[in-house]
Amino acid sequence: MKRKLYLKTFGCQMNEYDSEKIEQLLEGENNLSLTQSADEADLIVLNTCSIREKAEVKVYSDLGRYRKLKEVNPNLRIAVGGCVASQEGENIIKQSPFVDLVFGPQTLHRLPEMLKQRELQGIPQIDISFPEIEKFDKLPALKNNGPSASVSIMEGCSKYCSFCVVPYTRGEEISRPLDDVIEEIIRLTLSGVKEITLLGQNVNAYRGLRSDGKIADFAMLLEYVASIEEVKRIRFTTSHPNEMTDGLIDCFKQIDKLSKFLHLPIQSGSDRVLSAMKRNYTALEYKSIIRKLKKSCPQITLSSDFIIGFPNETDEEFAQTKQILQEINFDYSFSFLYSARPGTPASFIKDNISKEVKEARLKEFQTLNNQQGKNYTNQMIGTKQRILIDSLSSFEKGYMKGKTDNNRVVEIKYDENLFNQMVDVEIKGFLGKNLMGEVLKSED
Ligand code: SAH
Ligand code: F3S
Repeated sequence: MKRKLYLKTFGCQMNEYDSEKIEQLLEGENNLSLTQSADEADLIVLNTCSIREKAEVKVYSDLGRYRKLKEVNPNLRIAVGGCVASQEGENIIKQSPFVDLVFGPQTLHRLPEMLKQRELQGIPQIDISFPEIEKFDKLPALKNNGPSASVSIMEGCSKYCSFCVVPYTRGEEISRPLDDVIEEIIRLTLSGVKEITLLGQNVNAYRGLRSDGKIADFAMLLEYVASIEEVKRIRFTTSHPNEMTDGLIDCFKQIDKLSKFLHLPIQSGSDRVLSAMKRNYTALEYKSIIRKLKKSCPQITLSSDFIIGFPNETDEEFAQTKQILQEINFDYSFSFLYSARPGTPASFIKDNISKEVKEARLKEFQTLNNQQGKNYTNQMIGTKQRILIDSLSSFEKGYMKGKTDNNRVVEIKYDENLFNQMVDVEIKGFLGKNLMGEVLKSED
């Protein structure tokens, strides 16, 4: 009988990607198959996130529960990976001695060996090193679940924003060689994938080695990916404003397959706050990038990340953030309460703003942003959109659905031939909360 793996993932798309790899690795090497219930697991793996305090607290409360399971079943193994593991290292074992393995985002490929050593040595194993690009060479290719797939093109971040743990937990920026990325994408297309999401903490900081020894930047990578006939849509996330080169901006005009959507974190509309965050751009510089983008591609939709309540953010500075939200007219975006992360420069700033004030600001901000998102949805009625049909409608019989460039779900009448096809539709109205479309043209 196959042994059971319970795998819980917190945080960003990079973690989700890593978790898929963990699942496949442990299935192949350790004959473990996924279970939805921690109670029946032989191995529990937590792929953790430490970007904000809340995510971290959840990990420790889960561990408390698993300790009880281990009391009943001493053969249960518990592994903690991801960014909390990377940050806390052996502290995790000190605090929770029942944990068997601690591994980082760059050492997950070593899990089978660590499990083996745990049994041989009878003591917890810790490996949170950053062995550069080794991970990608050692991991199985992702199995295909439908017409969309993600491909990690770079890891880590070298920007060191003053509030952020990522450079410490995931290491500095490191890019995969161009050929490796292209080969993985071609392999995915052979199993029917049509939409590729390029993943990385800062995808547009991509500097991949080419086989001729030169370096390919992100714009060049996009051109290569677009040249693969079977790839019908390209998405990417996340980008940094300082890496929005003219070449990349031009891609939105030149590459038809590139989703006309960009998630570009701005964090704040105040220059004082941006500088304290060490973002290395001003609000005006950010707006100038947007102006160029809109010139290159007038139909582009934009979304962003915002941190509300950075230490000592004044009413006026918060007002500037609201203003830029409205001025750029961002689509549905992410906004977070500032969370002091241990060891980061911002965590040493003495803060004079109360939690109540910050929470009220966040609420006000999110209300504004939700309204903007709704307005976008309403304005899509009557427009032509491209969607990739990937599943049946989740609530309406006789319908199937796919997503637009800006991630709206559109339902269309069921037609067997349209499964896994890129389809042009005209948006006619709503079906439940989703949009409803009529097919204008399908791929082939
Ligand atoms: N690479 C991306 C960000 C990755 S982290 C970039 O270009 O900025 C995702 C988001 O989490 C960030 O954009 C930021 O808005 C938020 N975040 C990071 N650290 C945070 C903290 N300490 N408190 C609150 N939000 C934070
Ligand atoms: Fe974090 Fe800033 Fe990098 S938000 S991931 S340090 S760009």
